[in-house]
Amino acid sequence: MSHKILLLPGDGIGPEVVAEALKVMQCLEEKFGLAVEIQGAMIGGCAYDACGKPLPDETMHLAQEADAILLGAVGGPQWEHLDISRRPEKGLLGLRSDLGLFANLRPAVCYPALADKSPLNAELVKGLDIMMVRELTGGIYFGTPRGIRTLENGERQGINTLVYNESEIERIGRLAFAIAGTRKGQLVSVDKANVLECTELWRDVMSEISKDYPDVTLQHMYVDNAAMQLVRAPKQFDVMVTTNMFGDILSDCVSVATGSIGMLPSASLDAAGKGLYEPIHGSAPDIACRGIANPLASILSVAMMLRYSLHETKLAEIVEYAVDRVLQNGYRTADIFIEGTTEVGTDEMGDKVVSALHQCTLRRAS
Ligand code: IPM
Ligand code: MG
Repeated sequence: MSHKILLLPGDGIGPEVVAEALKVMQCLEEKFGLAVEIQGAMIGGCAYDACGKPLPDETMHLAQEADAILLGAVGGPQWEHLDISRRPEKGLLGLRSDLGLFANLRPAVCYPALADKSPLNAELVKGLDIMMVRELTGGIYFGTPRGIRTLENGERQGINTLVYNESEIERIGRLAFAIAGTRKGQLVSVDKANVLECTELWRDVMSEISKDYPDVTLQHMYVDNAAMQLVRAPKQFDVMVTTNMFGDILSDCVSVATGSIGMLPSASLDAAGKGLYEPIHGSAPDIACRGIANPLASILSVAMMLRYSLHETKLAEIVEYAVDRVLQNGYRTADIFIEGTTEVGTDEMGDKVVSALHQCTLRRAS
């Protein structure tokens, strides 16, 4: 049976990096017999330009039908003046919410070949391997009331609401505990329980469910301290679980430790394992259309898709191995370039991964 994959390239560098991920999928089809049926659709600013909506009905329909979705990025300065309800980001948020993709997994791995690229001391980041688990369909991103209103005295007031129901905390918590159980068994739950009641509840629920996971050690940490610890001694972390907004911020923060935000993939999963896969980087309009974007986060997102939605673990490992080979062979896009390595563009980087995949075939056949 073939897997239905929906490609949503989006805006900025999105189409460039997704094109390389597609090459990888096609290679997996040809060389390893992966059965996929690939379709494409619009999301974000390009969708708004074409039909006045960042998430067209047709896209939503195809997303519902698909087994997995691969997204590039959304957004750009040309759409920043739009009302928030029509901005490209709203398309992505709508997709996450309407598909019930509550669990966002953001692995931050430092490839040994990139340790010197990190602004942190190489010793601090060599071997870094954190799984950030971010709640994705609740919290301040979706809470109501929200908006900007004008008070009686004529002053404007902006409002957003941080709200979590117990059940929302519990379901992301249980997933994080389960993941920690398959790794080093150390879970850090990040909150701001000293100030925000909503995250006081977060802390309580995490403590309550921890009783069901005796093999996992739970530690609570305030978000300000967590940000500091991530740059001070990131290797102390195994799995982190946190709210939507804290997870957004901390995942960008940890990405720098790994060498480049251009390397980090993500998976957003629903309760049944259906997923949306995307790099954690944005649309990077400043480098769009220049052929220099790093496609590895998009390619590694394909690996996550193979693992979590298509249950093709072997192929996921092969893709990750191929990326590692290319880095070890010294090929680098501009964001991860250092003296003594070979700089390549987006397209060439995709080709290098594809040739590394071909070598995998030969090795496995012999
Ligand atoms: C991310 C992005 C998105 C978010 C934006 C584009 C809506 O920053 O996936 O981290 O804030 O979730
Ligand atoms: Mg973000």
